[in-house]
Order: sequence, then C-alpha cells, then structure tokens
Amino acid sequence: MSSRFKDSLRWVSDTLELTPFRITIIYVVFALSLLFVSDILWPRLVTDSEQLRRLQGLKGVAEVLATGGFIYVLVNQRQQQLQRERSFIQSAIDELGDIFYVITQDKQLERWNKRLPTVTGYDDSEIKSMRATDFFQSGDRQRVAGVIETAFETGESLAETTLLTKDGEKHQYAFKNARLERVNASDRIVGIGRDITERKQREAQLQRRTRAIEEAPIGISISDPDQEDNPLIYVNDAFVDLTGYPREEALGRNCRFLQGENTKQDRVARIRDAIDAQEPVSIELRNYRKDGSMFWNHLEIAPVWNKNGEVINYIGFQRDVTERKQRQRQLETLDRVLRHNLRNHMNVIRGEAEIIHSETSGEMMASAENIINTSDRLLELAEKERAITGQLRRGPDLKEITVEPILQRVGLTMRSEHPDATVTIDCPTDATVQAPPELEYAISELVTNAIIHNDSSSPDIAITVTQLDESTRIKVADNGPRIPEMERKIIVGEVKQTPVYHGSGLGLWFVKLLVSQSGGTVTFEKNSPVGNIVRLKLPS
Ligand SMILES: Cc1cc2nc3c(=O)[nH]c(=O)nc-3n(C[C@H](O)[C@H](O)[C@H](O)COP(=O)(O)O)c2cc1C
Repeated sequence: MSSRFKDSLRWVSDTLELTPFRITIIYVVFALSLLFVSDILWPRLVTDSEQLRRLQGLKGVAEVLATGGFIYVLVNQRQQQLQRERSFIQSAIDELGDIFYVITQDKQLERWNKRLPTVTGYDDSEIKSMRATDFFQSGDRQRVAGVIETAFETGESLAETTLLTKDGEKHQYAFKNARLERVNASDRIVGIGRDITERKQREAQLQRRTRAIEEAPIGISISDPDQEDNPLIYVNDAFVDLTGYPREEALGRNCRFLQGENTKQDRVARIRDAIDAQEPVSIELRNYRKDGSMFWNHLEIAPVWNKNGEVINYIGFQRDVTERKQRQRQLETLDRVLRHNLRNHMNVIRGEAEIIHSETSGEMMASAENIINTSDRLLELAEKERAITGQLRRGPDLKEITVEPILQRVGLTMRSEHPDATVTIDCPTDATVQAPPELEYAISELVTNAIIHNDSSSPDIAITVTQLDESTRIKVADNGPRIPEMERKIIVGEVKQTPVYHGSGLGLWFVKLLVSQSGGTVTFEKNSPVGNIVRLKLPS
C-alpha cells in the first residue's frame, strides 16, 4: 500500500475517530450497499451481459479494497492503542517515587525507570553496562547477588541494604523482587527499591530514646487516658526497682495503687485536678512499695499531646526523695529549736539590759543600751532567717500581683516609721508581676535598707515602676552611701557565699531569692550624684 494511501486512511481514521465498532458498522453498510447495487438494482437496469460481467469484476475489486482497508484500519487502531498503553505504563513507572528495574539472569539491568539514574547519578548509557550488584558497597555485593538468585529460585526475595551513588553517597534502601516467568524466553526479575533512609534514622532515634527511657535513673511511667480509669501502659526498670511492683502487676492499673493510709488526700486531689484540667503537676507525697514500706515520692506528671491538640498519654516521673525529706525535716527542727532558744535567751538578755539601763547612768547605761540594740538586731535577724527558710521550704508559688497597692502600703509604713525619710512612688495602677506573695516583704526590705543605711538627714527613696511587654521593672533609687561591693557581688551571683564570708545582708539575700524564684533578675547601679539604684526585673 502506498504511503499516501496509508496516510489518507490514518487521516480518515483519526478525523472520524474510528473505533473498531464504528469501522465494522461502516464496513457492513458499505458491503450491503454494494450487494444491493450490484446484485439487485443493477441487474434490473442493465440487461447487456458484457456490462454485467464488467460489473462483477468491479464489484470484486471494490470488495478486495474495502476488506483490505477495513483490516488495515483495524490493525492500525490496535497498534495505536497498544502504543498509547505502553507509553502510559512507562510514564507511570517513571513517576514512581521508587526505583523500578528488570534484571536478566546474568544480573544485567534490562529495564529501569527514571528514578534509578536520578538517585544513583549514573546516566542511562552507564547503567546499561552495569550489573545490578555494582550499585552496592563491595562488602554487600555477594549478599545482593544471593538475594537476586533467591528470587529466581523461589519466585521472590526481600533485602534492606545500602545503595551507593556514583558520588559515593549512601542511601538505605529496601528491595522487593519477584520472578517474571516468560513463555519461550528466560525468566526475569522485576523489582522495586524504596528509600528507607528517613525511616531507618527515625527507628534509630526511637531506639536511642527508648533505651534512654528504659535505663533512666528515675521512675518513668506512661498512662493511657483513653482507657477506663487511665491505667499505666508502660513503666521503666527504675519504676519497678523503686516501687517493688513487677511490671505485670503495675501495668493495666491506675497508679494510685502506690498510695496508702498516710498519703495526704489534699495532694491526691491536686493531682486529680491537674489531670482533669490536662495540666502538668509536680508534687511530693507519701507512697508505699509492694512490701508496705513508705517512701516520699517526688512525682511529676505531664500530659502528652498529639498534633491535633488532643491528650493521648500522661507521663509520670517518680523520684525517691525520702532521704532528702528526712534531712529537710531534721534541719527544720534544728532551725526551729535554735530560733526558739535564741529568741528566749535574747529576750532574757534584753530584759536584763533594760533593767541595767534603767538603774544606771553614764558608761554603764550606754553599754546596756548597746546590748539592747544588738539584741534587737539579732532578734530581727532571726525573723529574716525564718522568712528565708520558709520561702525556701515552700518553693516558688507564683501569683499575679498588682504592684501599686503593695508599694503604697510599704510607703505608708516607711513614712510612719521613718518620718525624716521621703518615699515617692511612681507606678501605673495596672502594673502586675508574677511573683510569690512575699514580694511585699522583699520590697519593704529594700526600702528599709535604703533608709537605715542612709547617712543623710533626709533619706530620699524613689520607687519607679515601668511595665514592658513581658516584664515589669521596679527601680528603687536612694541617696545613701553605696551598698558594700561584697554585698552587691553576692546578690548578683559574682561571689559565692562561703563559710568565710557571711554577708550580714540577709534582707538583700531574701530579695534575690524571691526574684530568682519568679524567674527575674536583680541588678545594682550607682545613682547620680550619690546613692544606689536597685533594679528588679520580674515577669508580668
Ligand atoms: C502517668 C501517671 C503516673 C502517676 N504516678 C503516680 C505515683 O507514682 N504515685 C501516686 O501516688 N500517684 C500517681 N499518679 C496519680 C494517680 O494515678 C491518680 O491520678 C491520682 O491518685 C488522682 O486520681 P484519683 O483521685 O482518681 O485517685 C499517676 C498518674 C499518672 C497519669
């Protein structure tokens, strides 16, 4: 058939969108028309036998042409369809995120998708001359060859190994092979390789974390709040060691089994409220081991959220603080007894000194007065020590405090106790800080210090408060002599309080403690022309 004729047929076929069904219909209509014209209509119109014979010849030619065209168009249709399917399959395979390959029995690559050159850096002509095992480190090649042979023998095989790129980069890959059985031809292996580098890294990270949790030196427990009564679903070795409950006895139960008759119910209620509110909680409470022995548990519980903001687990950290608690108790008792005795004996000394003071004169009276003043200072010191140890024992209990009213109260007290002093306050009425309630005592300490250590006849104290976005600054400026350097350094943490140096400024120490507990800072500056500026920066 001439190429022009073929082109015309293709054009007709494409323009008319000739499907095999349409072609068959056209062919049947054409054949019936030919039959009607040549066998029925024409013999009635034409009687000449010579013309009838020619007509039969023409009819034969038309039939051959029509049948040939019909067969050609059908075959052409089929070929186009196959071509379209083949390119569709190829582009689908090319678009795969995975490597696709076909391997011959001598481990040569016969087909592959675009992903293989993209990942390995070899171009198609290089790949053509490579064996499948060439994409791996020399130490892995034998194993990879074995995996391919297994697929030929058994029909399938799997392997996780390191793919080596042309640049020497290593990627973790998982390969899945299957045997492709072919009629009258040797079998092939068809396979897919998937990059599992990230998965492997995640697995390794998870393994490290799991090991860290399992081997952590404190008890770790995880509960599932989606189950009835929030039971434990995981406990680590330290939990088992601490509580004496074997894992199988702890899992599946709510952790309250550690509580006993002397566990304070208000503490349990605080845990319950925190869990109900999906908030973290940190608490110390009495717990009991399996053998019934009591221990102080420093318990911290925190909710674990998923990406959708739902609590999926609670994690608990258990620490045995019994020894520390006992030491703390002993120190507290010692502290109480010491302070009690100090107060009693100082009051006796002060009382006696008052008698001497009232009954003597001159040097003796002055000495008695000295004893009275020193006793007062010691009693005051004992009070400050009580405030500090109390604050240390309670720990930070931050509240939102409106600053202005407490400054006004401090100002009022100072003006009445020290009529010569001027205390000015400049504070926005809505300024707040996050601090323990004892902040008022700390500010009163600062102002008292500024007044009593002031050698001017009219101590001048100015308190200024400014509120910035996330912090509130309280500035206390005075016109007295500078706070001794050692005192300042101890407060800002430049010098450690050693047994050799005991700063007498317990008041300042208390200020520092309180500000640190609030997450704030204390700084000192020189005031101009004389005096100090103490700046407190507290979260608002
Ligand atoms: C993960 C997790 C760990 C817990 N660990 C302890 C614990 O070690 N000791 C304890 O007394 N309570 C622990 N609890 C608290 C109790 O399980 C329970 O929530 C608490 O007793 C308050 O609830 P209840 O009033 O229903 O008992 C833990 C809770 C959770 C969620």
